[in-house]
Amino acid sequence: MSKSPQITAIKGMNDILPPVSARWEWLEQAVRRVMAGFAYRNARTPIMEHTQLFTRGLGEVTDIVEKEMYSFQDRQDKHGDADHLSLRPEGTAGLVRAVAEHNLLYDGGKRLFYMGPMFRRERPQRGRYRQFHQIGAEALGFAGPEVDAELILLAVALWRELGLTNWRLELNSLGQPEERREHRAALIAYFEQHADQLDEDARRRLHTNPLRILDTKNPAMQALAEGAPRLIDHLGEASRKHFDAVRAVLDANGIAYTINPRLVRGLDYYNLTVFEFVTEALGAQGTICGGGRYDYLIEQIGGKGAPAVGWALGVERVLELLQEEGVQVPEPVPDAYAVIPDATALPAVMRCLQALRAEGVAVQMHAGAGEGMGSMKSQFKRADASGARFALIFGADELAAGELTLKALRDGSGAQSRVSLADVAGWAARLKSTD
Ligand code: HAM
Repeated sequence: MSKSPQITAIKGMNDILPPVSARWEWLEQAVRRVMAGFAYRNARTPIMEHTQLFTRGLGEVTDIVEKEMYSFQDRQDKHGDADHLSLRPEGTAGLVRAVAEHNLLYDGGKRLFYMGPMFRRERPQRGRYRQFHQIGAEALGFAGPEVDAELILLAVALWRELGLTNWRLELNSLGQPEERREHRAALIAYFEQHADQLDEDARRRLHTNPLRILDTKNPAMQALAEGAPRLIDHLGEASRKHFDAVRAVLDANGIAYTINPRLVRGLDYYNLTVFEFVTEALGAQGTICGGGRYDYLIEQIGGKGAPAVGWALGVERVLELLQEEGVQVPEPVPDAYAVIPDATALPAVMRCLQALRAEGVAVQMHAGAGEGMGSMKSQFKRADASGARFALIFGADELAAGELTLKALRDGSGAQSRVSLADVAGWAARLKSTD
């Protein structure tokens, strides 16, 4: 038979396998602890949504909607109608849809978090993938600046839990829609005055989304963007107060930040507070977490209006930063490795292992790669490689006596002792990890 060509993963979409997957689990566990500490509850929404949710929610002229969504037309139903569907490029729109659809805010605000894959057809590079993972936190139904501040404190608590220090917080206020309209007119007038300096992207955006020109990555245009009218100077009294109240909480908590008037975010649903956590340690893709307030999104997708604020972090980027900062992540190892010289003993052995696991002992059972169980030497080699602190030896002599041998593998002593198969509960605790 001729060999079939190897099928590989899709470009920009990664497999997450051991040992790296242990780092993901460790991060997720830390997230669950921190979320619980702030009383945020888990929410899970579908990976696919109606395309309209994103075109209406994120903004027609954002990069994501214009060119990065994985969208397709579903099969026709019996009436000949076919849905336009998209893989979610982010988690907020889907969550907001779910909250509105299930009337979750009927008895007051909700604090939610999610973790999962997102899809954007970007050019893959370090820190930028086509399937990537976000962990997001969203507080819906709360209008006050204290919740914006709480979300920032939540992120900071998470960085501390993870042991991350190499980050900066950037903050801005995008004001309210009418303040933005005023600023937008001032921006267009400014850029029109300097039309000869605009690149193609900026010219295209001038009348659709001039705010995004401020976010230009083109070095030739940075000076022009730098001199543009600042939204923060167009804020009204209420918006300014909101911003100041967020800052007061950060100041009281000793959280340093810089106000970046050019921070506009890549999605259109924001108003008032926006923020990003950035690092210099990851090269070009240095934003590890971004978010802000989106008080008009729920209404925009057809729900009953309610204020909301949230953020999402990029899991791949946070993990890479952990690596850069040399944060040690423990590798999971079993407490014990079962060495089984003779396959005929397996039924009795596996009964014992099952009882051990019920006592909370993590046990890896030896299994042969070919016929039979393999030599004792090869089994002990595997036991060593597993990282287990004990070998459980189910030899013929031991079994005949209704016993097995425990052998210490890591403390250098190689100490052995015989224990009874019938009395697992009596000695199981000795095997359990103490840390
Ligand atoms: P975003 O800034 O588009 O915001 O994405 C949040 C984070 O996801 C980014 O800061 C980055 O760490 C990560 N990320 C984005 N794209 C990629 C990619 N292609 N590869 C790897 N990581 C990526 C949002 O998605 C909003 N939903 C955040 C939010 C929640 N705002 C309010 N609530």
